[in-house]
Amino acid sequence: MELAFVTSNPGKVEEARRYFEGFGVRVYQLKMSYPEIQADTLEEVAKYAVEWLSERVEGPFFLDDSGLFVEALGGFPGVYSAYVYRTIGYWGILKLLAGESNRRAFFKSVVAYWDGKLHLFTGEVHGRITNEPRGTGGFGFDPIFVPDGFDKTFAEMTTEEKNEISHRGNALRAFSNWLKENLKY
Ligand code: IMP
Repeated sequence: MELAFVTSNPGKVEEARRYFEGFGVRVYQLKMSYPEIQADTLEEVAKYAVEWLSERVEGPFFLDDSGLFVEALGGFPGVYSAYVYRTIGYWGILKLLAGESNRRAFFKSVVAYWDGKLHLFTGEVHGRITNEPRGTGGFGFDPIFVPDGFDKTFAEMTTEEKNEISHRGNALRAFSNWLKENLKY
């Protein structure tokens, strides 16, 4: 089975590829950009994007909308994570948290699959923001996030290690369970 992943983020593609490899499913990238509306939830952003893409992409596809939610910042950057990453980056988040003792944060991922209908799968991972970036793997905010129960940042983990516990790994697990039940692949 093959799955089209609409994204311009090679890091997300690598994680989805690795994840589905074990199930004999080939993930390929459809490099298309799509509108990311301003909304209060990742689900709304993903839903709008899927509806927009469904008129432009042939056949089934999925996408992933994710965000980093920092407790001491009232959940910011959350749905604005892509913009914040592009503008102030993870150094900006570290600056905003300078002197802050509450480092709690979580990542959330919404995987949206379109097969003529919309199917949403979500995953979260809770943890903390480091004081300094560590590691060279992964992408985005990975160097400043340590998941609960670990000392390593996501950027110090292999893709397999990250997938086992990450927001995206959890959302992909829900997605693949659904595929197994519904498509019997
Ligand atoms: P979007 O899902 O493409 O809107 O991404 C939101 C922002 O969060 C981007 O800047 C990503 O780099 C970042 N991001 C999404 N997923 C992850 C992740 O797994 N690790 C680190 N940063 C992430």
